[in-house]
Amino acid sequence: MKAERDYLLALYTSPRDKGNTSLLMDALSDGAREAGYEVQDFRVANMDVRPCRACNACFRDGECVQKDDMQEIYPHLLRAGAVAMAAPIFSMNICAQAKALIDRCQRFWSARYVLGDELVERGRVERRRGFFLSCCGRDKPETFDCTRPVMGYFFYIIRVGKWTPLTFAGVDEAGKIREVEGALDAAAELGRSLRMTQ
Ligand SMILES: Cc1cc2nc3c(=O)[nH]c(=O)nc-3n(C[C@H](O)[C@H](O)[C@H](O)COP(=O)(O)O)c2cc1C
Repeated sequence: MKAERDYLLALYTSPRDKGNTSLLMDALSDGAREAGYEVQDFRVANMDVRPCRACNACFRDGECVQKDDMQEIYPHLLRAGAVAMAAPIFSMNICAQAKALIDRCQRFWSARYVLGDELVERGRVERRRGFFLSCCGRDKPETFDCTRPVMGYFFYIIRVGKWTPLTFAGVDEAGKIREVEGALDAAAELGRSLRMTQ
């Protein structure tokens, strides 16, 4: 297992392997490496991450009874020094792959609010950084408004103290983000900004 402070968890959730949000995540990861971070990535859309069943079994012990690929991701959500999620807009919010992963974090909600487990030491919560990378096809930045409470909840429940969104509207065809001036540089710069948190 990597050391906790110096690695980035990079969650690619688009089903388009070389799509716009994936390119942003590649750039952010490169920047993070420049800042001395290792990168642990997951291609969530190619993994078996099922939706939450609302069985409430996690109320008993804070664990999820579904033994799918989410079990591989779980420890990193609390351990990584920084967590980035790249998720495109599908039907006016984050794609279902990203939302399923977030819903499966219900076990962390249960651990904290039912069982009283703080999950991450208080001093570390403030140091942990989050990033949200997104693109949408229509040229309206307010499309991302609906993602804010969802992503805010995600970072809150995995105990990431501060998160930064980087979103681009009017980006539809796969690879189009390369044509948006400064977009990939801005993502790389976010990765490089991790230097400040060491
Ligand atoms: C199923 C589906 C639903 C979409 N819904 C929206 C939408 O509601 N609003 C929008 O602006 N773009 C929408 N898009 C366009 C994507 O957000 C856009 O193509 C984005 O660049 C995809 O990012 P990716 O290449 O990382 O997958 C949708 C695309 C798909 C495939």
